[in-house]
Amino acid sequence: MRTDMEKEYLVNAIDSFKRSIIVISTDFKILAVNHTEIEKDGFIQVGDLCHQVLYRRSTPCHNCLAQEVIRTRKAAIRPGKEGTMALEKVSCLYSYPIFAGDEISSLVIMDFAMSTMEKMEERLHRSNGFLSNLIKSAVDGIIASDMKGKILIFNDAACKISGYGVDEVIDKMSIRDIYPGEGAKNVMRMLRSEEYGGKGTLRSCRVDIKRKTGEIIPISLNAAVVYDGKNEVATLGFFHDLRETLKISAELEKTQVQLLQAEKMSSLGKLAAGVAHQLNNPLGGITLFTQLIMEEYDLPEGARKDLERILDDAKRCSNIVKELLEFSRQTSNEMRPYDINHALSQTLFLLENQTLFHDITIVKELSPSLPPAPVDIQQINHVFMNIILNAADAMEGRGTLTLSTSLPKEGDRIIIRISDTGPGIPESILPKIFDPFFTTKEQGKGTGLGLSLVYGIIHDHGGQIRAENCPGGKGAAFIIELLLNPPVQGGKK
Ligand SMILES: Nc1ncnc2c1ncn2[C@@H]1O[C@H](COP(=O)(O)OP(=O)(O)OP(=O)(O)O)[C@@H](O)[C@H]1O
Ligand SMILES: [Mg+2]
Repeated sequence: MRTDMEKEYLVNAIDSFKRSIIVISTDFKILAVNHTEIEKDGFIQVGDLCHQVLYRRSTPCHNCLAQEVIRTRKAAIRPGKEGTMALEKVSCLYSYPIFAGDEISSLVIMDFAMSTMEKMEERLHRSNGFLSNLIKSAVDGIIASDMKGKILIFNDAACKISGYGVDEVIDKMSIRDIYPGEGAKNVMRMLRSEEYGGKGTLRSCRVDIKRKTGEIIPISLNAAVVYDGKNEVATLGFFHDLRETLKISAELEKTQVQLLQAEKMSSLGKLAAGVAHQLNNPLGGITLFTQLIMEEYDLPEGARKDLERILDDAKRCSNIVKELLEFSRQTSNEMRPYDINHALSQTLFLLENQTLFHDITIVKELSPSLPPAPVDIQQINHVFMNIILNAADAMEGRGTLTLSTSLPKEGDRIIIRISDTGPGIPESILPKIFDPFFTTKEQGKGTGLGLSLVYGIIHDHGGQIRAENCPGGKGAAFIIELLLNPPVQGGKK
């Protein structure tokens, strides 16, 4: 039990409280009120009905806070509107029940200045605005959807990447429209699996999205399931366009392959040059002494034939040595602007009367507006010769050889395409054909140096060469690009 003193302290404490505290009965009669400004003015009298004195109503208010407390038997809070018991025009009411045993005997109603609520609301409003701004201006695309797939958030970057306007998407489109095919389902499956960054999250996953235009583009997606307690309520995804990154890494990969190839060529070139030099002297000796024997001795026919064979083979060897030396750029060279159409025709002129070409139809699609290209014409003729001979070999002397030249619209290079109707180049050997000594020809028929020479020459001209199979497996094509203004003319030693 409280002492009288204690009760007095409590009453004083309640009276000194700056807010109004009213105790009402369950039938809304005011039972007590603290000594606030309102009470001092005699504004509220014990025995008055609260709705009458506070809200000037003859019946309880339709959204009566006291009624809610009586019904729920719990404390409740509600912003007050007009005519409240507080001094401020607008306040917030807080009410809680006082129990006598199991029954509510009375209720307390207190008011709080709305300014506190307003401050909270404003803070909430500001932080909401800040968050929306963050989402809107993020560099990454942000997309959020409810668990049915309805899109709730779609920021500016997402619009830019997808090509949709925000009004076309929010509340109108489903996440299933953004991912092609079963994409959305797959993303959900990955999100729910442990494998992609833990359950409920997906880290840096490469997936595709479908743009408004229907174009499918690759993106990198970080996503998460948003939980409310244990319930999944939404999914949130951050993504960026991977097109540029993939393009750069493909170019990098290509450059690396080219570098590797160039390095391989240069070291093999040096090796070949060394071997060629060493072979040159003994070969000279073989040829010289064989000729001496043939000239100085009266030899039986059989022995003479054998020596001729030795001479032929030695000649073949020295031709290979010559090729090797050329391959390693030990020969001199001269760069001059040259009409490439003319160079092609010259090479053809040398070749077309040979038996190997009798049953080969030659088609020329030469651009009439081809500007002269700076080349070492002897080496370029060598290039054309090697490629055309390979084509004739592949077609086994029967088919169509097509030579075309063109000037792409950039105007900085010319393109030469030499294609045949042979069996094409098996995919498995395509990466090896420019390697020195790579040949599929039987022993004695090919050295495998032809294309490695071609490769070296074109690269020394600052150009590019590649081989591909014609569509439909109808033969092989070699495409050469020669720059009209190579950065270091010829780049040769
Ligand atoms: N037009 C083509 N069609 C099919 N395969 C080709 C064609 N051109 C080249 N190849 C393949 O590339 C290989 C390498 O060619 P490369 O010219 O370097 O050597 P080679 O012709 O075999 O010998 P050589 O040194 O006498 O020229 C060939 O053996 C062949 O398998
Ligand atoms: Mg060849």
